[in-house]
Amino acid sequence: MRKIKIFDTTLRDGEQSPGASMNVDEKIQVAKQLVKLGVDIIEAGFPIASPGDFDAVKRIANEIRGATIAGLARAKEEDIKRAWEAVKDAPQKRIHTFHSTSDIHLKYQFRVSREEALKRSVEMVKLARSLVEDVEFSPMDATRTDTRYLLEVVEAVIEAGAGTVNIPDTVGYTTPSEFGALIRAIKEKIGDRAVISVHCHDDLGLSVANSLSAVLNGAGQVECTVNGIGERAGNCSMEEVVMALKTRRDFFDADTDINTKEIIRTSRLVTRITGIPVQPNKAIVGANAFAHESGIHQDGLLKEKMTYEIMRPEDIGLQQTELVLGKHSGRHAFKTRLKELGYELSPNEIETAFMKFKHLSDQKKYIFDEDIETLVSEEVSKGYELYSLIDMSTSGGIDQKPVAAVKIKIGDEIFDRMERGDGPVDATYRAIAALTDTKSNLLKFEVKSITGGTDALGEVLVTLEENGRTVRGHGADTNIIIAAAKAYLNALNKLAARKK
Ligand code: KIV
Ligand code: ZN
Repeated sequence: MRKIKIFDTTLRDGEQSPGASMNVDEKIQVAKQLVKLGVDIIEAGFPIASPGDFDAVKRIANEIRGATIAGLARAKEEDIKRAWEAVKDAPQKRIHTFHSTSDIHLKYQFRVSREEALKRSVEMVKLARSLVEDVEFSPMDATRTDTRYLLEVVEAVIEAGAGTVNIPDTVGYTTPSEFGALIRAIKEKIGDRAVISVHCHDDLGLSVANSLSAVLNGAGQVECTVNGIGERAGNCSMEEVVMALKTRRDFFDADTDINTKEIIRTSRLVTRITGIPVQPNKAIVGANAFAHESGIHQDGLLKEKMTYEIMRPEDIGLQQTELVLGKHSGRHAFKTRLKELGYELSPNEIETAFMKFKHLSDQKKYIFDEDIETLVSEEVSKGYELYSLIDMSTSGGIDQKPVAAVKIKIGDEIFDRMERGDGPVDATYRAIAALTDTKSNLLKFEVKSITGGTDALGEVLVTLEENGRTVRGHGADTNIIIAAAKAYLNALNKLAARKK
């Protein structure tokens, strides 16, 4: 089985995503996580680009162990020397230098001839090799470069000492079969004299497919970024290429050294630090990547995971498959979730709750565990009222801490209590908690106005938790404090019904 090296450029090309810049400490955090993930090479930055970039690469080279640290440099003496200064303290270091080779770039951007570009590339690879053993060269815009000239450049830079030649699809222009053929032609020419790397951009959404096609045709290194962030539409996504190789090892006959269980942690860290969200349906790391809603799929999954799952969520570090309950879900998934939530209901009770659930899922996009708890606890607690509010009053002011006097009926007896609190609701809730001796925790408190005007009917919804179970209570009144007390007692009644 061939080993494919993973060259991670999240900190360099990834950082070129609009708005993705990271400070030095954040880059260190990402670099540490990339080592845990098991990448072979970390492209830590472009040291000549700014003093901040230089400092980040230098600190990563000094502090991070367990991966090769690469610094990017144009094929210019000052860039290469700066890159060397930045990476020199790393035990494993690389200088990655590049020069455009396409006629479009040479003619319009750099105004140099092919001969001049070739000469500079060779000279700068030699200069880099005089400083460091491990040199990578990229002919930028390779996929729009004349193939014969590209092969000439590749041959010459290997002769000059480059150990890796990276073939960038700088503008995301190529297609899988075309790119595969190009990599095959390079492989046939250079054999094992250097590692062929690929660096694909996603302008046509083909970066992962192009990279995989390159692997099939002889590439030994893939350049990629976490979550596929990067210049414009981004780079080849690390998690997609890695999981494609792992899942279809049988087809590619190649794999990486990535510890895939660290994928989700790495993805979330990069999201948090860059502020660039991952789309929910993104392969591998999207919120829905392991979430199934259709009843047919859920039924199959509950019988045997293999029916609709080609990867295990645990393989990327997720807990487990998520069965999302929604309007497409069936009885099998609903019953399973009820069981997971700790309910043992009779077939009739399940049927009634399922009908209510179907009705609710027509009105509500997402059905949370909380909603199911509410449905079921309403079913279970129907008509059961251990606690009821008899009377209450509150007072307080700017200089006077609020106080609540609450009178409730528990079973057949009446009890009252006075408590102080941070506000009238807090004082009321303290009094009710003391009277009922509840051990529940208040998770959520929401106030809504049902009608308009200052005499509006207010509705309060509270969510309580006790021993891992949640219930929702609601209460309505024109006095919002009374509505709050009713909601609390309503939720406590549901907990009591369950215990009963
Ligand atoms: O996309 C590109 O061509 C690059 C090079 C610097 C490798 O990022
Ligand atoms: Zn790039």
